[in-house]
Amino acid sequence: MIKKAIAVMTSGGDAPGMNAAARAVVRTALHEGVDVYGIHNGYKGMIADDIQQLNSRSVSDLIQRGGTFLGTARSKEFKTPEGRRKGFENLQKRGIEGLVIIGGDGSLTGGSLMSKEFGIPIVGLPGTIDNDVWGTDYTIGADTAANTIVEAINKLRDTASAHRRIMIVEVMGHKSGWLAMTTGIAGGAEYVLVPEVKFDLDDMCHELKEAYERGKRYSILVVAEGACDAIGLGAVVEEKTGIDTRVSVLGHIQRGGSPTVEDRMKASMLGEKAALAIISGATNVVFGFDAGKVVSINLFDAVNNQKTLDPELVRLARVLA
Ligand code: F6P
Repeated sequence: MIKKAIAVMTSGGDAPGMNAAARAVVRTALHEGVDVYGIHNGYKGMIADDIQQLNSRSVSDLIQRGGTFLGTARSKEFKTPEGRRKGFENLQKRGIEGLVIIGGDGSLTGGSLMSKEFGIPIVGLPGTIDNDVWGTDYTIGADTAANTIVEAINKLRDTASAHRRIMIVEVMGHKSGWLAMTTGIAGGAEYVLVPEVKFDLDDMCHELKEAYERGKRYSILVVAEGACDAIGLGAVVEEKTGIDTRVSVLGHIQRGGSPTVEDRMKASMLGEKAALAIISGATNVVFGFDAGKVVSINLFDAVNNQKTLDPELVRLARVLA
């Protein structure tokens, strides 16, 4: 049971809805009479002692904002035991008794190491546009990113159709194909290439060529960044099909923007759960969603298991192409 203070941080790649989650952690803790500190710039800031006490006003005017008001970073130093000790000591000297970490796989792994080494209670929230955290079918920011991508696909389709081109769209996702598969289906793509599923380049080019000969005006290929190099793929596809091909790498635009209602709602629900759990003495848990309901996952299970791509999505993408 925590009596005095907790801290909240965001870590790894930012994701729309991280602000909503952090806001919910802060306001819930204050509601419970517990002090809250914000750690700036992820583990880097924890090591550099960039930590500040927050009040209710600190999290005003945030729920609609993308990015993270706390700042975020990827820290090499935190991967070392010495780095983690420095970070822990900065929490300890302020009387911080528990930590809520909002981040992806790597960030939650950092938290699990701290918990093992120093016994500090950790509650994690999955915050990443990649939707690749094991044990939860939702991660904060993935819905907003997917909507941004689909909006881009809609626009790319207009110009692809006007020119009778093949349009290859590369999307983020790190090693996961969730973003590509979801937006490929929602964007009406002809092909979706993901790291989890083998694809036959010759077959695909042959089918594309035949389809254009039958009068097809355009094709959209959504490619996960983890599947292959989209620019290289574009050159090969153009050469093999003889069809004018363009590649659009969407890049970091996918990470920005005002969070969708789904991301604001779910991030707020998860933030409240995280604060209540850590205050009441929980540790080593990650809160996520399963079939629309908040669930808790063991932190070590979440970081030691690989999430797989739903084969139903793969099947659906093929049927609807
Ligand atoms: O994990 C989120 C993510 O956006 C991945 O999809 C992508 O591979 C990576 O971060 C990019 O990281 P950075 O912003 O450090 O280039």
